[in-house]
Amino acid sequence: MAKSDSWGSRVGLILAMAGNAVGLGNFLRFPVQAVQNGGGTFIIPYLVSFLLMGIPLLWVEWAMGRYGGRYGDHSTPFILDNMTKKKLWKYFGVFGIFTNLGVMSYYTYIESWTLSYTLKSAIGGFSGMTIEEVGTFFDNYVGSGGDFNMPTWGFLAFVITLVLNIYILSKGLSGGIEKVAKVAMPLLIVFGVFLAVKAIFLGQGGDCVDCDSAVGMSFLWEPDFNNLWDPKIWLAAAGQIFFTLSVGMGTIHCYASYVKKRDDIALNAMSAGWMNGFVEIVLGASVVIPIAVGYLGLDWVKDNAGFMMAFKTMPFLFDKWGPILSVLAGVSWFGLLFFAGVTSSLAMGTPWMGFMKDEFKWSANKSALTLGILIFILALPTIFLFDKGVFDEYDYWTGTVSLVVFALAEVILFAWVFGMDKGWKEINTGADIKVPKAYKFIIKYVTPAFIIWILFSSLFKQGDGDGFNLAPDSIIGQIFHVGKDFVWMKDGAFTDMFYIDMSRVLLLALFGGLCVMVRKAQIRRNKEGRKYDN
Ligand code: ALA
Repeated sequence: MAKSDSWGSRVGLILAMAGNAVGLGNFLRFPVQAVQNGGGTFIIPYLVSFLLMGIPLLWVEWAMGRYGGRYGDHSTPFILDNMTKKKLWKYFGVFGIFTNLGVMSYYTYIESWTLSYTLKSAIGGFSGMTIEEVGTFFDNYVGSGGDFNMPTWGFLAFVITLVLNIYILSKGLSGGIEKVAKVAMPLLIVFGVFLAVKAIFLGQGGDCVDCDSAVGMSFLWEPDFNNLWDPKIWLAAAGQIFFTLSVGMGTIHCYASYVKKRDDIALNAMSAGWMNGFVEIVLGASVVIPIAVGYLGLDWVKDNAGFMMAFKTMPFLFDKWGPILSVLAGVSWFGLLFFAGVTSSLAMGTPWMGFMKDEFKWSANKSALTLGILIFILALPTIFLFDKGVFDEYDYWTGTVSLVVFALAEVILFAWVFGMDKGWKEINTGADIKVPKAYKFIIKYVTPAFIIWILFSSLFKQGDGDGFNLAPDSIIGQIFHVGKDFVWMKDGAFTDMFYIDMSRVLLLALFGGLCVMVRKAQIRRNKEGRKYDN
């Protein structure tokens, strides 16, 4: 077996786990989801999803990871395989590598934008620009405008960011990831607090009646109970919990598989989970939206909410704070996003590395290098076909649907196949807190039921109009392009739909390829006579 890596300290582990969770999702995705789903109304389903799905899944994944690590398994295919005698489960575990490769490829690209924007802010490069000019800068940066996106600087920044990730990953857990998390996480919080304080004290920034940061804050915090039972809001809130906590991804299993047999996981899981919650609800909600509302008003923000706001609007708004503060704010904002991004993308790289090291005895360098090549290839369509919707397609399948499918599989495996009594014992072994007994019931019944509901409501979401019709954004609706003309060519050129379908083929090929590798790994194990003693 390949020499196993390990964590250097408990603080390092918690910061790395929190870094895994705290990401672009906290600062870019959460505020937009909240605005698009009723502001304060969103917070109630969000907290319910956190308590009934997020926390249970954190415990389940930490427990599964530590359990697998005991047998030398550091990625989900064989962590799952180890928990049951049924041999098919390991193919569900493929999701835990697939998701990370898919998400890492587009995530590293956004991360590279934040790096470029940090540097541009540091030299005062946005100074004096109008809001339109800042928007045009972004469009040029991602190379919009031609048949394909041709982002010269964007591409270069992506390569640099990817190389940086790969280099850190090649240094291992304590020598790479942990060191980065120990610097990035505290700095990110300092930057976030600075911006949140600025936002809170901004007050009335523009001329309109509701141009007041306090209006933005109360919109995000005051629940409107009228819309509370809208399923769309519940689905969005649950989806955000998956993405932000990185549950259903496979990264937590991988990190936890390096935790020692008797070390605590119950309190560690809570520390990382609540730290993520703090960064998301307190800091994530206090920057983009309140500042944008302060200057541009609530209506403008509701109409324009999208994660591009962070790049297309914020530099223009920071510029109003004068030459020094605008540089500080720009560097804090984009630097914070970069740190949040890098600590998450590093986590996404580890399941592949763990799998290759465990099963094919590859060195850390070789595993990291192949990861870099894979991510580079997978990212190319998201970069050059950005305007054609390929980026969103990756996000939808690998960053949304996969997480729910895998989470359902793992919670059923843990609570029903492995068995809740054994599972409960695993969670509590070495625990530094008393895990509320109610969670034994919640993990067994409530969490799976909750996820089944999410999955089925997303599969067959009701569209507008009378009678049953599939919404275009339901999973089945997406698969069959409901509501769109099915054409691959128009006027002698390929349509966006063609590129989207091709990106699906690529992702399916990736999944299939990983299944073949798992099969090969199993054959190797059989030859070596490697068996579990459970
Ligand atoms: N959990 C990571 C994020 O929020 C993926 O960005």
